[in-house]
Amino acid sequence: MNPARIVVVGTGYVGLTTGACLASLGHQVTCADVDRVKVARLSAGRVDIVEPGLPELVRRGLADETLAFVVSAADAVANADAVFLCVPTPMGAGGAADLRAVEEVVTEIADRLPSGCAVVTKSTVPVGTTRRISALLGRPDVPVVSNPEFLREGTAVDDFLGPDRIVVGSDTPEAARAVVDLYAALGAPSVVTDAASAELVKYAANCFLAMKLSYVNSVAELCDRFGADIASVTEGMGYDRRIGRSFLAPGPGWGGSCLPKDTSALLRMSESVGFGFDLLGAAIAENLAQRERVISKIARAVGGDLSGARIGLLGLTFKAGTNDLRDSPALGVASVLCAHGAEVTAYDPAVAEEQPGMLVVDSAYRAAKGADAVVVLTEWPEFRRLDWHVMAEAMHGDTVLDTRNLLDPGTVLDAGLSWQGIGRPRVV
Ligand code: UGA
Repeated sequence: MNPARIVVVGTGYVGLTTGACLASLGHQVTCADVDRVKVARLSAGRVDIVEPGLPELVRRGLADETLAFVVSAADAVANADAVFLCVPTPMGAGGAADLRAVEEVVTEIADRLPSGCAVVTKSTVPVGTTRRISALLGRPDVPVVSNPEFLREGTAVDDFLGPDRIVVGSDTPEAARAVVDLYAALGAPSVVTDAASAELVKYAANCFLAMKLSYVNSVAELCDRFGADIASVTEGMGYDRRIGRSFLAPGPGWGGSCLPKDTSALLRMSESVGFGFDLLGAAIAENLAQRERVISKIARAVGGDLSGARIGLLGLTFKAGTNDLRDSPALGVASVLCAHGAEVTAYDPAVAEEQPGMLVVDSAYRAAKGADAVVVLTEWPEFRRLDWHVMAEAMHGDTVLDTRNLLDPGTVLDAGLSWQGIGRPRVV
């Protein structure tokens, strides 16, 4: 089945990226979404999420007629070779993944799938879900395949078209191989395995990344206490190929729509089979502790009392390059500051909407106006290019707290301000 007729259900950043990229590889792709307004906008080439390269790919697919958007998944699947499930699996009761959206789609399409069509789960689903979907479908002639995605928001198109690996698992090996074949043009290494192992790869990878970050944030705290510099420590660690250089930047904690939900879900899954995954539990607890430490640093920077303090925040999204605020550590810090009575003014290049309890403005200089301290929470490159003399003039106090170690401390110092990072010596 190459090129194949593919239906992608769900047009979030994973579904839309998957659909547009598969179309660019020569497949005939139909993306289905229950949101009529979104389908109409996408059909007109309008992409509302911030994802570099995606609007161009969508428009190219529409122009080539290799990509289409529809409301009804049930109608679309009737001629498909493969159906990719890319619907949300948010954190549900008690930290487990909520599978209702997946189950609804499966029930809706079950009778409409042609014989031999593969149902492929891209949504992050608990181990065992592929087999559960098979049971729910009740169609022995329809193989179910797990094909987890490893797309980062903000670089999803590049990650899709230049993957480190393709992971595909199924209890029907020939169906797994047919799905790997869909990606043949990418020339990436592939891991073909059983359904449960493929499902676990996704959680094991995301949770490892979260643990790596909790570890590095803890080491940064040690640097603060010993007077060492995390930049040198991670540089020295990163040359070791077994550790690697990436994912070693400390920050206000890890967030977003994936790592928090996947760490909680794996912890729950482990408990369900009688294994207390203490290492993972500690990584989650450490992430909350990191946020608390950042808030304490901000409190100290304004003389100990947050109540009535004026704080200018730079960045609200969970990382740079996205407009996603879900589980954003920056937003978490902001709301605690507000709850303690601080007057918070925030600027984020990708956020224009009001946020509860704070004032959202349209420039960093406005956010700095009258601030006792300015706090960098998201690593947007434009913050590096700010004129710190103008920032200093706007500010009331003189402290810049850079939780992403993003700025050049010397430039901030030249403007008569003091700079404090995470795990780095303070520059005054
Ligand atoms: C993450 C994974 O990186 C992807 O491989 C995976 O496909 C995706 O989840 C998913 O499951 O769909 P994403 O949520 O887009 O991707 O975000 P990351 O780039 O991984 O960043 C996660 C958090 O870690 C952010 O809050 C970021 O600011 C923080 N981070 C990342 C750091 O604090 N330091 C770093 O060095 C790297």
